[in-house]
Amino acid sequence: MSNILDVRNLATGYGDLRVVWDVSFTVQAGEVLALLGRNGAGKTTVLRAITGLNRLHAGRIEFDGHDLGRTPPYKRIAQGIGIVQENKRLIGDLTVEENLRLGAHVRRWRRSALTSRLDWAYDMFPALADRRGTTAAMLSGGQQQMLAIAQALMPEPRLLLVDEPSAGLAPAIVGDVLSSLARLSETGMAIVLVEQSVDFALALASHVVVIDLGRVVLAAPADDRDELRAQVRDAYLALVEAPAGH
Ligand SMILES: Nc1ncnc2c1ncn2[C@@H]1O[C@H](COP(=O)(O)OP(=O)(O)O)[C@@H](O)[C@H]1O
Ligand SMILES: [Mg+2]
Repeated sequence: MSNILDVRNLATGYGDLRVVWDVSFTVQAGEVLALLGRNGAGKTTVLRAITGLNRLHAGRIEFDGHDLGRTPPYKRIAQGIGIVQENKRLIGDLTVEENLRLGAHVRRWRRSALTSRLDWAYDMFPALADRRGTTAAMLSGGQQQMLAIAQALMPEPRLLLVDEPSAGLAPAIVGDVLSSLARLSETGMAIVLVEQSVDFALALASHVVVIDLGRVVLAAPADDRDELRAQVRDAYLALVEAPAGH
C-alpha cells in the first residue's frame, strides 16, 4: 500500500532555532503512528511542520505522494490533512453544530453535502448529536475533545494529526476518545497520535516512534504489544538517566 504521509529526514523549529533533527516515519491508510516522547521532546513541533505552521530546515514531507513544499496550512487542510491541536481550538460561544460547520468551511460545500457530513459526524459521535444546540463552553472536557476531533474530521481528511487527546481527561472518558480513534482508523483514516500516555497510545498504534531532544530514539512496529511496551519503557528509562535539555 502507498504512504499517505512520508516524513523524511525532517529538521524544523522556530525561526532559525532548530528543535527537531532528522525525524523520519511513514503512515499508510488505516495505520496509527504513535509519536511519543517526554515533554519538550519536539512532538508538537513535528505536527506543526506537517500542518505547515513551522518551516522545514531540511528534509521533505510528502502527502499522498506529493511534496508539500511550502503549501500554506489552509490548503493542506483542504487537501486532506486534519489537525486536532494540543489546546483545542473550539469557540466556546458557538454551539456544537456551529463549531462543526466552521470545521467544514474550507470545503465550501453546498448545503446538502454539509448536511450529510454533519450526519456522519453525529453518527460517529452520538454524544454530540444530543448536544448539537449546546454551546461548546457548556460541554464536559471529554465532549469538548470529541468535538475538537469531529471538527477536524468535517472536511473529510485522509490524515488526522491528534496532539495529546487524553491530556486533562478523566480515565473513564479517555476510553471513549480511544474507541472513537479506533473506529476512525478502521474506516481507513491514517492517524498520527501524539501522546504522553504510553498505554493509551500503544492500545491503538500500528507502529511507534519515540523522539527525544528532537531526534528519533526508537522506531518499531507494534506486532507484539508487550514486547513494544517493554522497548518503549526501556527507551524512556534511558532518557530519564540521561541529562535533559539542549
Ligand atoms: N514557539 C516556540 N518558540 C521557540 N521554541 C519553542 C516554541 N514552542 C516550543 N519550543 C521549544 O521546542 C522544543 C519542542 O517543543 P514541543 O514540540 O512543544 O515539545 P512536545 O510537544 O514534545 O512537548 C522545546 O524545547 C520547546 O521549548
Ligand atoms: Mg506538545
